[in-house]
Amino acid sequence: MQLTSFIPVLLSTLSLTTAAPQGAPSVYKSNDLEIQGSPGGVAWRFDISAPSSENSPAFSTHCQGTSTNMTLCADKNITAQVRPLSDPHYNIWVQHHWAKWDGKYRQDFWQSGDVNVTKSTHHFQIKPNSFYGVA
Ligand SMILES: *[C@@H]1O[C@H](CO)[C@@H](O)[C@H](O)[C@H]1NC(C)=O
Ligand SMILES: *[C@@H]1O[C@H](CO)[C@@H](O)[C@H](O)[C@H]1NC(C)=O
Ligand SMILES: *[C@@H]1O[C@H](CO)[C@@H](O)[C@H](O)[C@H]1NC(C)=O
Repeated sequence: MQLTSFIPVLLSTLSLTTAAPQGAPSVYKSNDLEIQGSPGGVAWRFDISAPSSENSPAFSTHCQGTSTNMTLCADKNITAQVRPLSDPHYNIWVQHHWAKWDGKYRQDFWQSGDVNVTKSTHHFQIKPNSFYGVA
């Protein structure tokens, strides 16, 4: 690949990144979080959804895991991670990935955010604060 062919890619990546704050991101919402934690591990589950926004498609899926690893949800465009902080607090991180075809080029987008909850929290919402795209 010639060096010049990188230039449009870099420019479009920059424009996608800086375009992000122009549209308000959709808030991710869940009403049925369950976390069971012990010193030996953690089990967690929740349904989560977000409406579409100017920048992102809608989603609605179920996530569950039995580790603190990043875990794909039922909709594999969504990745979640639940990690213990100081007891009884946990951090929940959720990432939404999607792709678009712009003419002949695929563009990938990632949007993510996190929230701190306690073990007894059932409702939470995440306002994504990280957004980037790669053309
Ligand atoms: C979590 O990730 C670690 C390190 O990659 C791996 O050894 C472990 O099996 C994973 N646990 C689960 C439940 O996937
Ligand atoms: C995942 O994202 C792709 C586009 O990146 C889309 O075509 C697909 O429908 C999405 N999957 C679900 C379950 O929404
Ligand atoms: C969650 O708690 C940790 C540790 O107190 C803190 O560093 C982090 O900023 C918090 N995150 C959010 C989204 O409030």
